[in-house]
Amino acid sequence: MAHGYAISEYPDVPAIEARIKHLTTTKVRTLTADQLAAYHAWYERHTPASREAAARAEAVIPGGVQHNLALNDPWPLSIVRAQGAYLWDADGNRYIDFLQAGGPTVLGSNYEPVRDKVVALLADCGPVTGMLHDSETELARLIHDFMPAVQKFRMLGSGTEAVMAAIRAARAYTGKAHIIKVGGAYHGWSDQVVFGLRIPGTGSLEAAGIPAGAYATTSETPPGDLEALRARLSANAADGGTAAVIVEPVGPESGSHPAAADFNAAVRELCDKFAALLVFDEVVTGFRLGMGGAQGYFGIAPDLTVFGKCVAGGYPGAGGVGGSEEVMATFAGGLTAAGKRALIGGTLSASPLSCTAGYHALVEMDRTGAPVKAGQAGDRLRTGLQELIDKHDLPYVTYNFGSIVHLHTSGVLHLNLADPGFFDQLGPRKDMLGHMSMAFAAEGVITLAGSRIYTSMADTDEVIDDALAAFARVFAQIPPA
Ligand SMILES: Cc1ncc(COP(=O)(O)O)c(C=O)c1O
Repeated sequence: MAHGYAISEYPDVPAIEARIKHLTTTKVRTLTADQLAAYHAWYERHTPASREAAARAEAVIPGGVQHNLALNDPWPLSIVRAQGAYLWDADGNRYIDFLQAGGPTVLGSNYEPVRDKVVALLADCGPVTGMLHDSETELARLIHDFMPAVQKFRMLGSGTEAVMAAIRAARAYTGKAHIIKVGGAYHGWSDQVVFGLRIPGTGSLEAAGIPAGAYATTSETPPGDLEALRARLSANAADGGTAAVIVEPVGPESGSHPAAADFNAAVRELCDKFAALLVFDEVVTGFRLGMGGAQGYFGIAPDLTVFGKCVAGGYPGAGGVGGSEEVMATFAGGLTAAGKRALIGGTLSASPLSCTAGYHALVEMDRTGAPVKAGQAGDRLRTGLQELIDKHDLPYVTYNFGSIVHLHTSGVLHLNLADPGFFDQLGPRKDMLGHMSMAFAAEGVITLAGSRIYTSMADTDEVIDDALAAFARVFAQIPPA
């Protein structure tokens, strides 16, 4: 079994924070209206089939698109083919795929050995039967081998569902109600965690359609702020206690707000002190940072781990929760759970399709060392981006956790709600993300919201160098300060 992690050197978090502070307090450095118009003209000329597809979608899909990760200025690109490092749109344009569907495909898109297993499974028994299939056990066993803290594993339909399940198990097990998340973190869209999303401190700002009672026992603490976490745990202790602290181990939004290297160990200690469960949301980091996940990298045993994305190898039904025998017993009822059963389920959960895809993807990732290779691609990209940033004297900030590469150009996620200029800054800085995303795509590179990049094993040096040339074409146009 290949061990090894994608992070070759942990980012210098204080230095990054200082650069981010500079980015958010300096003038926005973006493309001019003329340059944006030239990019729009490129789309007009080169993507008419996408434009027509987008018009058809607009009529029947709210907002015209089901996923908004790639942003959609001037219209969403209609993708007809995905292979390895590349996507092709309906007009035949080829793009380097740094969206990677939001992160599940560390092997690269449409990886043949996994697809062959899925096709064989479909031929044998179709995608789902509702009965036990060996792939469920194989996947759970494999995850346990990679992450010993996951003694038992329950497959679900998505990361969102897995977070809901983890919270329910934590409450059933501890008998406490409060949950604490870190401000800015996204843990899916269930009622209780649509709180403090993306920009720390924003609380219920995005909670349209959610009654306040749903998140009455949810609180957020500022990223990296252990004293605030201690204070919150303490306050909760006087009010029945905290069931769980949930963290993204490299920091909120996949490390957009990077966590210091010793943060998780300190959170583990605080959880133990206050008898709260520690939940690692490894939806992004699980297997991407290495087969042992962030918990292996940091050497921390969480009580519960939430999975998504990679756990189904890029196929549907990507979610699951795992942890210690005792806590996981709440899903089964029975003696160890003392009769406290946390109800979860799902007609299509843990389907043979998801479990077969997940199992074989993990086997292949382990066999090929995909997480480490993808991490090396991330290192090469980040190094090249930093050179470009320096060359063009831009305030942009780049760093990476292996194959999770951040490129903050507008700093919108790092605005401070308490700053009187917050709402004036929010619009232009948010717009800039869309503009950069559009420019990068026109130059041949699809990113996640113009600011995050997932690399995969398919990203050879040549792919990365081509991508850097594309970024260079955009950066070179940014007018001087
Ligand atoms: C850290 C984290 N947790 C949870 C989720 C939700 O997972 P899903 O989209 O599968 O519901 C995501 C999705 O991006 C995520 O990044």
